[in-house]
Amino acid sequence: MQDTVFRPAFGTRPDRIVGRDAEIGAFVDGLADRVGARDRATLFLGQRGMGKTALLLDVEERARALDFVPVRVTASETMLEEIIETAQIEGETFLGRDRHRLAGLSANAFGFGVRLTFEQSVREAYGFRVKLSLLLDRLAEVGLGVLLLVDEVRSTSPEMRALATTYQHLVGEEKNIAIAMAGLPAAISSVLDDEVLTFLNRARQVRLGPVPVPEVEAYYAEVFERLSLTVHPRELRSVAHATRGFPYLLQLVGHYLLLYERDGAIDGEVAAAAVESALEDLEETVFRPALAPLSPKDRQFLDAMAEDEGPSRVDAIRERMGVSSRYVQTYRRRLIDAGVINPVGRGTLDIAIPYLRDYLRDEL
Ligand SMILES: Nc1ncnc2c1ncn2[C@@H]1O[C@H](COP(=O)(O)OP(=O)(O)OP(=O)(O)O)[C@@H](O)[C@H]1O
Ligand SMILES: [Mg+2]
Repeated sequence: MQDTVFRPAFGTRPDRIVGRDAEIGAFVDGLADRVGARDRATLFLGQRGMGKTALLLDVEERARALDFVPVRVTASETMLEEIIETAQIEGETFLGRDRHRLAGLSANAFGFGVRLTFEQSVREAYGFRVKLSLLLDRLAEVGLGVLLLVDEVRSTSPEMRALATTYQHLVGEEKNIAIAMAGLPAAISSVLDDEVLTFLNRARQVRLGPVPVPEVEAYYAEVFERLSLTVHPRELRSVAHATRGFPYLLQLVGHYLLLYERDGAIDGEVAAAAVESALEDLEETVFRPALAPLSPKDRQFLDAMAEDEGPSRVDAIRERMGVSSRYVQTYRRRLIDAGVINPVGRGTLDIAIPYLRDYLRDEL
């Protein structure tokens, strides 16, 4: 069957956001909070494929309904210009579509030409902060705020520093602005740039882990029913379980199930083949890119962890490798920054990517 439901690719909007109701609800509540409230700045942290971009796409949509003009960019050297341009385009789209509902903009407001574009004098004389501030004022005239959405944030870039200072400044001026950012957990583990780090640490941090497997199961059941596919509850449970709640795997497994179904049915054989294909894709798209930048010593450390069935005690790794605790600290840090392992409680580490342990063991 042709797959018209699942989208196993990074950065795509899924057919449905599964298992993130709590995170989305809390974010929406934060938006409704007063200007300047801490909850208006949120940082979503999660490993690759955990659904950060998908979540940003979803809250972008929700923001519109709450009278926020969404401005979504990816952190980069040109981010600040893109924020201004996107705010103008999105703002005008918003005004165009909702003009019956919103009061009209006053004509000839300071520095503006037609609608939200700047007059040349403003365009040339002012920088990011003033321009964003003017846009916020202009949108506020019709009761709109701005929600900045910044994907792939890192604490070490000059643009992030400019954005952090500007955001704080605008909040100080009581402008109707909010920000949602997303990044790898390593984005905040660097200590190079204090200013940005402080900003990121002050934001409400939301860690995105796997979604609950029962919700994956319920979602699969619904999709198969919609497509008139028959599936035994046993198979349904087993494929949902095989995703381990990893959103990217949810898409991959679902995709292969639709591709492999036979005569409108998903039996044990189809289910097993789909999971196998999904895991093969995972090797290409997640494991290899995650392991490629690691040094041989990083790998030794990781292999030592893979000997455990679950989280590893730092002491046990040290003994296993016969190294000093300083050595362990160094490699622990490097692997956390690479997004491959996570600290889980005192003196304990776990492998952060689903199925990576199994893969490492097969590779040994
Ligand atoms: N809650 C979810 N429910 C269903 N599918 C999801 C969910 N979150 C993400 N997905 C899907 O999983 C895949 C990976 O998601 P996404 O690209 O958002 O991950 P990411 O965390 O941004 O990864 P990266 O760090 O590589 O940017 C996409 O196909 C996306 O549509
Ligand atoms: Mg992403």
